[in-house]
Order: sequence, then structure tokens, then C-alpha cells
Amino acid sequence: MEDIGGKTENTSDCKSQRESQISDTNKKRLLCAFSDIMDSMSSRLHPNCFGIWVVDYAAEHGARVCVNDYNIGDGKSHLNVIGVGSGAGDIDLEMLSELRLKHPGVTVDNEVVEPSAQQLHNYRVLVSRKPDLDYIKFNWNKMTAGEFEENWKVKKMTKKADFIHLIQMLYYVKDPEATINFFHSLLDKKGKLLIILVSGESGWRRLWQTYRSQLSNTELSQYVTTQDVKTFLESKGVSYQSYELPSQMDITECFTEGDEKGELLLDFLTEVLHFSKTAPPDLKAGVLELLRHPDCSVESNGKIIFNNNLGAIVIDPVQTGC
Ligand SMILES: C[S@@+](CC[C@H](N)C(=O)[O-])C[C@H]1O[C@@H](n2cnc3c(N)ncnc32)[C@H](O)[C@@H]1O
Repeated sequence: MEDIGGKTENTSDCKSQRESQISDTNKKRLLCAFSDIMDSMSSRLHPNCFGIWVVDYAAEHGARVCVNDYNIGDGKSHLNVIGVGSGAGDIDLEMLSELRLKHPGVTVDNEVVEPSAQQLHNYRVLVSRKPDLDYIKFNWNKMTAGEFEENWKVKKMTKKADFIHLIQMLYYVKDPEATINFFHSLLDKKGKLLIILVSGESGWRRLWQTYRSQLSNTELSQYVTTQDVKTFLESKGVSYQSYELPSQMDITECFTEGDEKGELLLDFLTEVLHFSKTAPPDLKAGVLELLRHPDCSVESNGKIIFNNNLGAIVIDPVQTGC
């Protein structure tokens, strides 16, 4: 498991403070706990306030399936792709290689929009190590989605995109709806916009709905799920298809008082450092009760399995009417 956390330029002061409270030792402890439970998980967790996240198998799988299921480019020999919040590029390269398999001979102009210098560096290293990427021209944009939009408008760019993806990144933008609107407007006639986020069906949504204000920190990340995106798209009459990407997390240890791994997992779930030791007793009891509630988890063979599902949304271009 790799720590690919990075501070981003639009990171709120709040987030910076929280991250700086996390010593390297604590980060290592969290990472150790996560690598322990990885075998029992169908995904490798998802981003959180500690600046730690890992690529999610469910996201990776979902992204590949979406690329495969849609005839992106519709037979064009050259495709314009924009990856927003691409991280270290693992999923991007998987998707691009799926595209190439499906459309041998295609060439790709790939705009990478990523504010973290470390992540961008990791992505470039990955590219340098992979053979056979000559068909892709990488344009590296070390900037946030908002800055990319600003640049695009200042330069009066008219280029259209065949495929744009926002995978596990809308949590970090100030205004997810405006971000979707902008990238949606860049789609070519047969283009597709792919969004992957925590699913509205997941335990996360219920946890955030119930305890968001007490667990603090609305600045830290947008508590946005695919349900919010769907509601927004429907209000605008935009057509889309959606998929549930199953993912589970064994959280059994959270319910053993004093269990170190359980406490670290609780920190991860609540995004509060030392939650077990510092939370008011009624808050802790409420969170634990909710976490094992059928709205969040299932109990099976003595294990408590948290619904960590992601959702993928594939959005069609703006309809022009003729
Ligand atoms: C959880 S990672 C997801 C990385 C990758 N898409 C994946 O799924 O593996 C979120 C990424 O979004 C980037 N990010 C944070 N704020 C952003 C913003 N305002 N605009 C664009 N990207 C941002 C982070 O630097 C990070 O690389």
C-alpha cells in the first residue's frame, strides 16, 4: 500500500492543520492497519482527511468497465481526453490502455489536471516506466480543476473532449456542481463524462448524513456522493447512466474496545484523529451503533461488513437540439 497523500493548492487551512497534526508515526500506524485489512477488502479504501488514500480496486474496475462499455470516440482515430484529479495516474493509464485495445491505432491527447506536485511526479514516473505509450501525448497541468477552468476561459479554448473523467476527486473542489457543469460543457457531440464517487447507497452516505456536523469539518471535503450528483443532473435534465461498484470493508475490530486496529479504522471512518479516545461518549456510542446498523453494514459469520460501495456515473453531452 502506498501513501500517495499530497497537499493540494486549494487545500483549506483546516485540512492543512489536520494533516499537520498527523505525525509520521500515526500515518504509519494507519497505513499498517489498512494493509492488514486489505486482504479482507474488495477495495483499497478511499481518500480521507489524513492525506492518505489508495487507489480503489472498485474505482479501477468500474472505470475500465465504463471505458469498455461505451464506444468512446465513436470510431475517431484521435481522441481528446481530460483526466481531472488524476493522482498517480494508475487508473488513467488503465483506462487509456483499454481504449487503445478497443481502438487499435487510435492516438490520444491527454490533459492531466492534478494540483499535487508529488502526485504529478508519481504519474510521470509511472509513464516513464511503461512501455508502448507513444500513442499518448501527455499535457501536464499542475493545477486544480478551478484553475484549469480559469485558464481554459482566459485562453478562449474551443477544443472539445471525447472523454473526461473525475474519479474520486469531487470531494476536494469547492463547488462540485460548477465543476461538473464546466467539464460537461467541454464534451464533444459523442463524448462521455465519467464521475466516480462514494455511492449514495454506501454506509458513508448514512454516516455523513447523520454525523457530519458533529464529526466536524465541512471544509475538509465535500461530503458528496453519487446520489447528490444524480439529483443535480436530474434537476438539469441531463441524461446519464449509473452503476453501483460493490466494495466492502470489514470493520469488526471497531467494536472491540481498546483494539488498536479498530481504533485506527474508526479514525479513518470518522476522519477524526484518536476518535475513540477523544469523542464524547454519546457521540462515540451513536457512531458505533450507526456503523453496525443495516443502513451501513451487514453482519455475516460474526463479521461486520461496512458498505463501501462506489458509484460510477456516465454523462452524455449537452443536447444541442439538432
Ligand atoms: C483520491 S485522489 C484520486 C486519484 C485518482 N483519480 C484515483 O482515483 O486513483 C484525489 C486527487 O484529486 C486531487 N485534487 C484535490 N483537489 C483537487 C482540485 N481542486 N482539482 C483537481 N484535483 C484535485 C488530489 O491531488 C488527488 O490526486
